[in-house]
Amino acid sequence: MSKIREEHAFIPESDLEGVSVDTLAVRAGQIRTAQLEHSDAIFPTSSFVYGSAAQAAARFGGEEPGNIYSRFTNPTVQAFEARIAAMEGGERAVGTASGMAAILSTCMALLQSGDHVVCSRGVFGTTNVLFQKYLARFGVETTFVSLTDMDAWKAAVRPETRMLFLETPSNPLCEVADLQALADLAHANDALFVVDNCFCTPILQRPFEYGADIVIHSATKYLDGQGRCIGGVVIGSNALMEEVYGFMRSAGPSLSPFNAWVFLKGLETLPIRMRAHCASALELAQWLEQHPAVERVYYAGLASHPQHALAGKQQKGYGGVLSFRVKGERAEAWQVIDATQIISITGNLGDTRTTVTHPATTTHGRLSPEDKAEAGITENLIRISVGLEDIDDLKADLARGLDSLSR
Ligand SMILES: Cc1ncc(COP(=O)(O)O)c(C=O)c1O
Repeated sequence: MSKIREEHAFIPESDLEGVSVDTLAVRAGQIRTAQLEHSDAIFPTSSFVYGSAAQAAARFGGEEPGNIYSRFTNPTVQAFEARIAAMEGGERAVGTASGMAAILSTCMALLQSGDHVVCSRGVFGTTNVLFQKYLARFGVETTFVSLTDMDAWKAAVRPETRMLFLETPSNPLCEVADLQALADLAHANDALFVVDNCFCTPILQRPFEYGADIVIHSATKYLDGQGRCIGGVVIGSNALMEEVYGFMRSAGPSLSPFNAWVFLKGLETLPIRMRAHCASALELAQWLEQHPAVERVYYAGLASHPQHALAGKQQKGYGGVLSFRVKGERAEAWQVIDATQIISITGNLGDTRTTVTHPATTTHGRLSPEDKAEAGITENLIRISVGLEDIDDLKADLARGLDSLSR
């Protein structure tokens, strides 16, 4: 007799053909056990059992589909993967232990020694370090270019270029890349176009619609949305994701089921959170722009932003992150940061709580002075990830430091 009770088989997900991304955020990927739980179940188990030795052999041999071990697959992780894949409009997703593990898994699975990458200079500091220091040791060379300079992207491409990699909008200066133009450039040169969509999420931007081959997220940010868990995900075609999955399964940077469950809960509120983040960020950017102690504000929702029109075309909102330069140097920037009483001084972003960072000495602190200068990370730059607090309270919190500078 089988040792597995048949009633614990999964009930297939409901038909979601043609529904909007908001509905997918709440419903897609849900698998329900015979307990008929309404909310997503969580499966904190390292391995799975078989009804017989023959079934174990069939699972391990790949003749029978099913779970073996949670480094490979786990139902809660699979539910998260299915939901985010549906929201991005990709065929398959692979969950990973962090956003950096998602980027590393993509590169390790799809690049080899002798390959060349063209990468935006405006990527997250650790992504820059990964390409420049670690992948270089394994024979993958990277050329860094300005995110918005199409001529520089074209000039950097070589016969051995296998990947174009970027974030848009960029961190922390909110520069916006032309996704369609860069997808065309990648494909004309037989290269993969990889987009880190962490700042926009599929609610504001769906890079596959503009020709991206792979979309990456640090789920740690908006997908969780409440600053609780570290995780990441890679999304793309079945063929590409089979390679990424193969690396992830062998090397082991797997997403934990608990974190996947937290991300599933986060995704359910992602559409309404993103709209609220965007509204508050725009209002704060407009307010900062007229403050006498502020030299310049970087936010694609402002008419003064050089890629305002492009952002309006390829994004459904301008996002929750903005940066600004105070009049002065590091001391003045730190004065504004230290005067806040509500806003948290922390490197994370995409949280319900507003956060403030000094990129030059934190997130981008490990860049060389030349790289910082080229990426525009000056000492007077402050990054804000606008949360869901009352916007007037946020203005008052920043005004404390800013007003003292302009006195
Ligand atoms: C745009 C972007 N990509 C990737 C990462 C890395 O993600 P994680 O911290 O989850 O490894 C970050 C982290 O801040 C980020 O901002």
